[in-house]
Amino acid sequence: MCGIAGVVGKSNDDVVKKVIERLEKLEYRGYDSAGVAVVSNGQIERLRAVGKLRNLKAKLEQNPLSGSVGIGHTRWATHGKPTENNAHPIVSENLAIVHNGIIENYKELKFELQKDGFIFETETDTEVIAHLLQREINRGLSSRKSFENVLKVIEGSYAIAAIFSSLPNTIIAARQKSPLAVGFGDNMCVGSDVSSILPCSEVVYLEDGEYVEITEDNALFFNKNFQQVKPKKQKISIDLENTDKGEYSHYMLKEIMEQSSTIRKTILHNKIDKNIFEGVSRILILACGTSHHAGMVAKYWFEKFLKIPTDVEIASEYRYRSPIIGENVLAIAITQSGETIDTLEATEYVRRYNNSKVVAIANVKNSAISRISDVTFYTEAGIEIGVASTKAFTAQLTILAELAFHNYDFLTREFQNLPTLCEETLDLQNEIKDLAKRICSASSAIYLGRGSLYPIAMEGALKLKEISYIHAEGFAAGEMKHGPIALIDDDTPVICLCPHNELFEKTSSNIQVALARGKNVIIFTDSDGSKFLPPETTKIVLPKIPEEFAPILYVIPLQLLAYYAASLRGTDVDKPRNLAKSVTVE
Ligand code: F6R
Repeated sequence: MCGIAGVVGKSNDDVVKKVIERLEKLEYRGYDSAGVAVVSNGQIERLRAVGKLRNLKAKLEQNPLSGSVGIGHTRWATHGKPTENNAHPIVSENLAIVHNGIIENYKELKFELQKDGFIFETETDTEVIAHLLQREINRGLSSRKSFENVLKVIEGSYAIAAIFSSLPNTIIAARQKSPLAVGFGDNMCVGSDVSSILPCSEVVYLEDGEYVEITEDNALFFNKNFQQVKPKKQKISIDLENTDKGEYSHYMLKEIMEQSSTIRKTILHNKIDKNIFEGVSRILILACGTSHHAGMVAKYWFEKFLKIPTDVEIASEYRYRSPIIGENVLAIAITQSGETIDTLEATEYVRRYNNSKVVAIANVKNSAISRISDVTFYTEAGIEIGVASTKAFTAQLTILAELAFHNYDFLTREFQNLPTLCEETLDLQNEIKDLAKRICSASSAIYLGRGSLYPIAMEGALKLKEISYIHAEGFAAGEMKHGPIALIDDDTPVICLCPHNELFEKTSSNIQVALARGKNVIIFTDSDGSKFLPPETTKIVLPKIPEEFAPILYVIPLQLLAYYAASLRGTDVDKPRNLAKSVTVE
């Protein structure tokens, strides 16, 4: 996580303004603090502020900075509290750096540097990089040679950008397992993603181990052996989508309301190659968080319709437990950002130890996952700005459903109606807004579902907890009696997913059991189901839908419920505390 940006200015450029504009695009990567540093008349100057970028901007209005080259940072704290003192850029005597990632051997390096007389002012792992660089400079080495020597000793993951007081027009930057893009345009620049190097026209994505020296009109690239290499420049072709909130109070609400159109686009854009499962005897899904919930739904679909055994793995656990990969495996990595380090590393692991084919399902075009996968299916959800994933999740499910149902013509036909049913579900918005009043003051909530709606219960609970900070858990409805039932009392909302499907009787018995112990039972069902459910429960009636597609539809009211509960509690819905949109640390 953390966003880094750097700009080499031309005469009369307002470099700080340009760095801040780029940081605005990167706030989704962290918003614990922000900072900027420049080279100004042979000196390093910097300004930092705790919290969101707006706090830094306010400070800059009081204390303007100007310079010929600048770097900036928006932080998601790993080592050291989110204080101003720990905010980046981190300075050593004649240089400043910004860093995204974790330096795993920082303790040894710190000890060594302290012995050499360096005084540490922050609790960050990053400070070792700054002092290591300074130590090399003090030895009389050039900034580039110093940088190379530092890259030889630091371990872990990093994207780093450094400026030096002696170099008014230079940024040196490197990447190891954390993304970094170099932009060519009116200004040469670096950034954590392609949006943060706009308006550049061309980009080079640094590879692991590479570093770059960027000057006013040029950039020299070096491989991991420090030999100069010719960069692979690509034209930037990202859609400059409308990133305005429009009529909505939050991006999250806008993104929820876009879902019938994003699902429609995803259906239209992806044509499934029927041979993709040929010879496959096992499917292995790797993902984290919400994307993992999409994978859990897919397991139900793949085993039922493709008849292929499917395992769904939490990517952060997978490669640390000596997994048996097996033969003829198709790995599917699901990731909205395409950047989640856990998912990337688990996918690399499968590649390394097995010759499996890897399919990625990603939302961000050209993201790292596509570079390590054989095939990438892109969800057409468009840029997702709200930190809590909504439209990307339903788009992931759409692709997974297409993969699962591609041999079943009747399902494929029915699937075309899904966007319309989503629209009808979104029309329940006001009903759900009222319902949110019933849960917004609870301290804890329980979500129940069976079959492929069990992962949707987990997803509903995740949405509620991450944006409203109400503790919530999703359970398989039949599992409730094995322990979670102890949590139910009159104040605990029990939110059940119970369409009139083949598991209806079982789920409604579980609902009766919950109702015997608590009075706040809320059920999402359909017109047939509502006839048979207890009158003393609150029922929200969703459109009738083929059982197979229910997960895609039933998650929508849960997203709305979480959104309205969080809004009533006054939390920062689009940027919930402690979270970041792109998780590039383990
Ligand atoms: C929750 C959420 C996260 C992400 C997870 C994986 O709303 O967004 O749980 O799903 O961090 O991210 P991606 O899909 O980018 O790999």
